[in-house]
Amino acid sequence: MEVIIRKNAAEAVKLAAELIGKEIQTHPALTLGLATGRTMEALYAAIAAKNLDFTHVHTFNLDEYIGLAPENENSYRYYMNSNLFDHINIPKANTNLPNGMAADEKAEGARYEAAIRAVGGIDLQLLGIGRDGHIGFNEPGSSFGSRTRSKALTRETYEQNSPLFDDPKDMPMRAFTMGIGTILEAKRIVMLVTGTEKADIIAKAIEGPLSAMVSGSAIQLHPNVVVILDEEAAAKLTLKDYYQRVFEVEPEWKPYR
Ligand code: F6R
Repeated sequence: MEVIIRKNAAEAVKLAAELIGKEIQTHPALTLGLATGRTMEALYAAIAAKNLDFTHVHTFNLDEYIGLAPENENSYRYYMNSNLFDHINIPKANTNLPNGMAADEKAEGARYEAAIRAVGGIDLQLLGIGRDGHIGFNEPGSSFGSRTRSKALTRETYEQNSPLFDDPKDMPMRAFTMGIGTILEAKRIVMLVTGTEKADIIAKAIEGPLSAMVSGSAIQLHPNVVVILDEEAAAKLTLKDYYQRVFEVEPEWKPYR
């Protein structure tokens, strides 16, 4: 795992956008796994500003609220269109999210997994982390082997996300999410985490024990992960100095120093 600490959120976002931009330039038919949330808004603006060619890119989002139609302003489909897809040249047919209105939830999970398999899997999966340690909406207690399925959201996730709804009571309490097993099959993972409120949980995820209580700790099992943090989010890490040293001496990071 590579952990890169930038001095502020803007610098962290800039680096994440550069890494993703480079992947798209090198592999024009890349399959990207995408996340939503506040952290990603600035990243999508930075990616859109790069004028990359997305004609052959496919995307799969991590999650979608159950019961929200694509036109609903709080759906993740709406978020993705307005924050990214409407600003780049990706064919909408290449963009995938779970269908929050699917009548048969088990079938929807299986359909999504099959769609990911059909394009040969996810090349680069973007992740954030929730205050309760979730990746996607894999709430505490999620199996590391879990696949795309419906999941009940925690009170903490409700507190984190409901302020984004006009009426907080409208936030669904369930969502479809890729499983942790699904996420770990991506060829590369880029996690972006910023802000003081994430300092405790990201330290647990990166440096704590592997535990279903902190879904994000599952990334320790993946052989190709880059975690990009700002100073605030990195505040509780034990190996901060070492991560900095790696960034300064490893040739791979030279272009970004
Ligand atoms: C959403 C997702 C979540 C978010 C997490 C952090 O698609 O995957 O795991 O990344 O809830 O959200 P923000 O960035 O709003 O703090």
